[in-house]
Amino acid sequence: MSVTSISVRRLKARIVADFEKSAGRHDDPAVYGGPPGDPGLLGPDSISWEIHADLASVSQAGLPAIVLEILHPSVVAGVQDLSNYRQDPFQRARATLGYVLTTTFGNTAAATAVIDHVRHVHSFITGTRPDGLPYRALDPELIAWVHTCIPWMILRAFEHTKRPLSQTERDRYLAEQAVIGRLGGADWVPETEAELDEYVTTMRPRLAVNAQTREFLDFLMTSPFFPDLPAPVDRRLHRFAIYAGMSRAPRWAQELIGYDRPPAVMRRLIEPSLQLDARQLRWALGTPRYVQIARARAAAATDLAEVAVS
Ligand code: HEM
Repeated sequence: MSVTSISVRRLKARIVADFEKSAGRHDDPAVYGGPPGDPGLLGPDSISWEIHADLASVSQAGLPAIVLEILHPSVVAGVQDLSNYRQDPFQRARATLGYVLTTTFGNTAAATAVIDHVRHVHSFITGTRPDGLPYRALDPELIAWVHTCIPWMILRAFEHTKRPLSQTERDRYLAEQAVIGRLGGADWVPETEAELDEYVTTMRPRLAVNAQTREFLDFLMTSPFFPDLPAPVDRRLHRFAIYAGMSRAPRWAQELIGYDRPPAVMRRLIEPSLQLDARQLRWALGTPRYVQIARARAAAATDLAEVAVS
């Protein structure tokens, strides 16, 4: 093996290791493998399998999705009162990424189990907002909002960094993801882009930045992001990473939290860095392990059927 190929392998391994340190591995055979032929909740022909196979898009969607979610005063109240994100800032992001990947690619039992588990955790998330209104995470309206932010931001990240989707593909994706949203406890979630646009317009007056949102955002902006780097470098890179992540959110949301940057900075600096980040991750990862394992699991029935016919 040549010196160049060894250093390329080392570089890829380093990129993957850095990514997995914050995002997790997501390759448990008990979750993504399992009964041969089991399509899971959505199946290998779903567009969700294509979109969620692009870990670069799914991971870039994480930050803007979380920030949009907590713009709802009841959601941020639940998170501020009962989440342990301050102890391990990446844990919540990892858990949500695991949820998205398991519900899409996991075998049916694993996907159903994670949904039941998260519903169980949510059954304890209740309280009162600072303005006196009670909240509970299992309120179908709150589940609908948190659910919607995830596929919405994944769609935007995928279309920006991977490929544009047709209207039919966007609608198909939202309809597939709606299955997961309803299993998670929502009564209704948008199933088409038109419904998504209308829903977001309805939700916008209910979103706000209050003292709890500010606390969450201040933590996001100041907690160590790159702990191996000297503090001033960490701070600069960190701020840049947050602005870059939030650039995937709609402009009104960036302005609401004060993270909007001039369009020229977006175009010249932020967007190219996100593109580079996505390309680099795809290059280093290749086909993610969860996809490989799930494809092998789902394909097994077809192979067996073919064997039986021949
Ligand atoms: C479909 C919508 C939602 C999804 C997919 C989701 C996802 C998750 C996941 C994966 C966990 C981690 C469970 C574990 O600890 O193993 C979690 C925990 C939690 N969720 Fe949700 N969630 C949703 C809605 C909500 C809502 C509406 C609220 C608040 C009102 C909320 C607040 C919390 C809190 C406080 C925790 C406790 C763990 C923590 O963050 O440290 N979630 N959620």
